[in-house]
Amino acid sequence: MWSIHAAPALNSSSDSYKSVWNARSASLADGMLAVDGSADEAVLALTGAYTAAQVRAALDLQASDLVFEIGCGVGRIGAQLAPALSGWHGLDIAENMVALTRERLAHLTGARVSALVGPALTPLADASMDKGYCVAVFIHMDKEDFNLYLREVARVLKPGGLFYFDAWNLAHPVGWQRFSYEVDQIGRNDPAQRKDVARNQFCTPDEVRLYVQHAGLELAFEHSDSPWVQVVARKPGGTAAPALEARRAAIAYSPRWTELFADACAVLIGGTHPETMLARWRTLPANEPEPPMFIAWLSAIWQRNPHQWPAVAA
Ligand SMILES: C[S@@+](CC[C@H](N)C(=O)[O-])C[C@H]1O[C@@H](n2cnc3c(N)ncnc32)[C@H](O)[C@@H]1O
Repeated sequence: MWSIHAAPALNSSSDSYKSVWNARSASLADGMLAVDGSADEAVLALTGAYTAAQVRAALDLQASDLVFEIGCGVGRIGAQLAPALSGWHGLDIAENMVALTRERLAHLTGARVSALVGPALTPLADASMDKGYCVAVFIHMDKEDFNLYLREVARVLKPGGLFYFDAWNLAHPVGWQRFSYEVDQIGRNDPAQRKDVARNQFCTPDEVRLYVQHAGLELAFEHSDSPWVQVVARKPGGTAAPALEARRAAIAYSPRWTELFADACAVLIGGTHPETMLARWRTLPANEPEPPMFIAWLSAIWQRNPHQWPAVAA
């Protein structure tokens, strides 16, 4: 979600999720760039803490929980959550990402990381996990693979287990705006070439609900009032989790987040100069969590890409 890639060059038909994401994580800097766009440890910790708070609230994480993450990247979220869990298992299609997370989380005894070969959670046994999550990953795959992963989630969760995930929300104006950008890009590309396998893909909330249901999961609750559809799904059976609905508000992206995200899209894919937005964001209340985080994030991106946006005269 933090890495707002401009649509990359088209890939050859032999490119797979694995080859694309391994190429994007050949070094630690590349891997960090692929997950939050900033390649800055301080910013990664800031955005990681924000997302981890949403996951913690969505799943009501407990110290006794065994938790997995699909598409763990460089462990941006896992680094925040794993220390307070009984076990955390990160999974990723890219061996390079797995190696980076393994190294970054080596100090955490309860953390494990495994590479996947396809849309199957092979390293996890049936009904073995209490909870799981997947952030900014299903947005980068074909819907068939998204559905195959959800079926696997239903297999590996214990009865009553919970799973949090997100998808780009086509039904939100900012989600639609982001989709239109992709449509325009693809319209300019050579139609004879295959589309990028890791491109952004979009869903409506209704569609996501159907996916959950057909994977054999129940919809515990959902939040769709932002460019993201955020879902907590539950495996039927087990003991009913208390007050699921009360947790809905805690996972939501705030209106401020959506506003700043739309501003960031205007910079990163719309051509607005970063300083225009940074100047506006500095006038926003600093006691809100979003402005300082977005300021740090966009500043780091600008600093990394000085060729893209010239410095502003003092
Ligand atoms: C944008 S990054 C997000 C990483 C992490 N979830 C976070 O929010 O920091 C997307 C991650 O998903 C992984 N990924 C992409 N396609 C995948 C697939 N088909 N199966 C499993 N992981 C995949 C990538 O290797 C990458 O680590």
